[in-house]
Amino acid sequence: MTARCLVCLAEVRGEGDYHPRCAKALFGSTRVPTIDLELSRLHTVAQAMVGHTSLSGIQRKVSVGLTADRATLRVAMEKGHFILKPQAQVFPSLPENEHVTMRLAEVAGLAVPPSGLVKLHDGSLAYLTRRFDRTAEGKKLLQEDFCQLGELAPKQKYEGSAELCARVVRRHASEPLVAALALFRQVVFAWWTGNGDMHLKNLSLLRGADGLHRLSPAYDLLCTDLVVEDDQLALPVGGNRRAVTPRQWIAFASYCGLTPRATARVLGQVHAALTPSLGLVARCFLPEEMKVRYARLLEVRARTVGVAARKVSEG
Ligand SMILES: Nc1ncnc2c1ncn2[C@@H]1O[C@H](COP(=O)(O)OP(=O)(O)O)[C@@H](O)[C@H]1O
Ligand SMILES: [Mg+2]
Ligand SMILES: [Zn+2]
Repeated sequence: MTARCLVCLAEVRGEGDYHPRCAKALFGSTRVPTIDLELSRLHTVAQAMVGHTSLSGIQRKVSVGLTADRATLRVAMEKGHFILKPQAQVFPSLPENEHVTMRLAEVAGLAVPPSGLVKLHDGSLAYLTRRFDRTAEGKKLLQEDFCQLGELAPKQKYEGSAELCARVVRRHASEPLVAALALFRQVVFAWWTGNGDMHLKNLSLLRGADGLHRLSPAYDLLCTDLVVEDDQLALPVGGNRRAVTPRQWIAFASYCGLTPRATARVLGQVHAALTPSLGLVARCFLPEEMKVRYARLLEVRARTVGVAARKVSEG
């Protein structure tokens, strides 16, 4: 097996785990930093960080940053520009899963922050993403998740619906239609990729440096169906958590206020993402058995998305 880039998954020739341009996109420099991080220590650090950073959620994650000379990536309590998610204890291969799903998201037209895998000291792979809630100068941008915006308690993050999200966007986004389009894309993508963990805290509005509130780039995307058998949508669409029909997708798009033309464009783009996505899944770092299941799921669900795209453009 030839070596694959830990960012883009294409072949790398010669030395190194990254194409220079991919290292630049992730680390900000073609020189790959030394990774001064170790799995066994990270779990302790992650625990210590609870309450100290703005990170919340279940999977262990730590705030990390580059040293001033950009030579080393290490734990950084307050000023880290990255979030690192190491291997989890309960579910296998989550970093590899999140990594390939982020690549799929790119192909499907979602806005995503730079991300990739890094090899820790012990040889294990961890998922690394650059924070989108910081300006270049390191100032924190306001990020509010849909739980807060929908005036629900954090523990109610599974009690929403796709329609509730559409109302949040209508009410709080500076350009509601632009945000509704991005939301529709994210919800369709979550279903296509078997993501049962897209709950109200995995969607946010971000206030840009220009003061406008937009849907934030996508984060926490993964195919939970690979680790939780027959996982269902966290946010039902038209009351449905499993087999969302073409008709229900079109009804949700209409609820979002999208024109048939815009709806067809999004659905068509997700459908067209299937072929390149199958290539990405084949090359990704998941175990073979998970790759097979992921590919099958994508194929089956892309059919529904394709039918919905055709239906809505035929009127
Ligand atoms: N790239 C990112 N930039 C800024 N904030 C992020 C980014 N990724 C995640 N977050 C924030 O960190 C929180 C936890 O990250 P998430 O990926 O959702 O981890 P978990 O699997 O623990 O839920 C998110 O709810 C979000 O607010
Ligand atoms: Mg999350
Ligand atoms: Zn690459």
